[in-house]
Amino acid sequence: MKKYILGIETTCDETSAAVVQDDRIVLSNIIASQAKLHEKYGGVVPEVASRKHFEMLPTVTQEALNESGITIDQVEAVAIAKSPGLPPALSVGYAYASGLALSQEKLFLEVDHLEAHVKGVWLTRDPKKLLEIPYPYICLLVSGGHTEIRMVTAKNKYKILGKTRDDAAGEAFDKTARMLELGYPGGPIIDKLSQTADEEYITFPRPMIDSEDFDFSFSGLKTAVLRESKTALKEYEQYEDQEELYEELSQNRIADLSASFQEAVVDVLVSKTIQAASILGIEHVTIAGGVSANTRLREKMGRECHKKNFSLYYPDMEFCLDNAAMIASKGFDMVAMKKNSG
Ligand code: KG4
Ligand code: ZN
Repeated sequence: MKKYILGIETTCDETSAAVVQDDRIVLSNIIASQAKLHEKYGGVVPEVASRKHFEMLPTVTQEALNESGITIDQVEAVAIAKSPGLPPALSVGYAYASGLALSQEKLFLEVDHLEAHVKGVWLTRDPKKLLEIPYPYICLLVSGGHTEIRMVTAKNKYKILGKTRDDAAGEAFDKTARMLELGYPGGPIIDKLSQTADEEYITFPRPMIDSEDFDFSFSGLKTAVLRESKTALKEYEQYEDQEELYEELSQNRIADLSASFQEAVVDVLVSKTIQAASILGIEHVTIAGGVSANTRLREKMGRECHKKNFSLYYPDMEFCLDNAAMIASKGFDMVAMKKNSG
C-alpha cells in the first residue's frame, strides 16, 4: 500500500509544505518564499519571518494537500523541520505541525533540517525515475548556515569529515552581495551576474585549499573583495561626472568581482570534495543545500568528477533550497529507523 507523509518547513524564510509518497516521490511541494519581504533589511529578520510563517502555514499546507490529491486522513505522519534554524521561525512551525498531528491523530516526526538537505538529491516528481545512489557516498552540504563534507554510509548514518570554521558558503555569497550592494539573497544574484562576467578579473585567494583536512574558511574572502572593489572603482573616477557611463563601467566591474569571488569559493568547494572522495576511495558524490543550485559549482564539480570517473548526483532545482519535500522524505527514513529498532 502506498504511504504518504506531509512535510512542513519553516526553519528560515521559506514557508513550505509538501506531500511525499513512498520515501521520495514528490506529489506536491509548495514553497512560499519571503525573500522579497526581507530584501529591504538586507537579510532575514527572525521576528518578521516567524509572523509570516504563522500567517502562511494554513494556506500553504492546504495547497500542498490539494495539489497532491491526498487528504490528511491518508497521511501516515506529519514531519516538521526541527533544527538548525531561526528559533522564532522553528517554534511557529513546531506549534502548527504538532497541533495538526495531534488533532488528526497522526505520527509526529521531528526531522533534522541538514539531514533532510542531504536526502534532497534522492527526490523525484517522476515515479519512473527512482534514483539509487550507492553507499557510501560523499555529500558536499552547502547552505546559508552550514558548509560540511559528509561521508554517508547508510540511510541514517553519516560522518562529518570537515566543516567551515567561520562563514558558511551561502553566508559568504550573501555577505559579499550585501557589501557590493547587489541585494538579498546574494547567492542567486551573484550566480546570475557571473554568467556574463569575467571570473579571471581578480585571482582571489582560495582559502585552505591546501590544508590537510576537509575544513573551510570563507570569512576572509569578503574583506579581499571589499579591498579590490575600492581599487577597481577608483579606475573610473575620471568618468564620475558622466553618470550613465560611470554606472555602466562600475556595474561591469562589480560583476567581474562577483564572478572572481564565486570562482574562488567554487574552486575550494570542488577541490576539497574531490580530495575527500579520492582519499577515501569513494566514487559517488552528491551536493546539497541552497548553494548546490549554483551553476558554476555544478559545472566545475561535474567536470572534476568526470575526470576522476566519479558519478555525481545533484538535486533538482526545487529541492536545493529549503523545501518541505525533503523534510517529508527524511520522515520516511525516521519511520524506517523506528521500525528497525522495534
Ligand atoms: O539551504 P538554504 O535554502 O537555506 C539554509 O538552510 O541556509 O540555502 C540558502 C543559501 C543562501 O545563502 C543563498 O544565497 C544560497 O543558499 N544560494 C545560492 C544560490 N541559490 C541560493 N548560492 C549560490 N548560488 C546560487 N544559485
Ligand atoms: Zn536549508
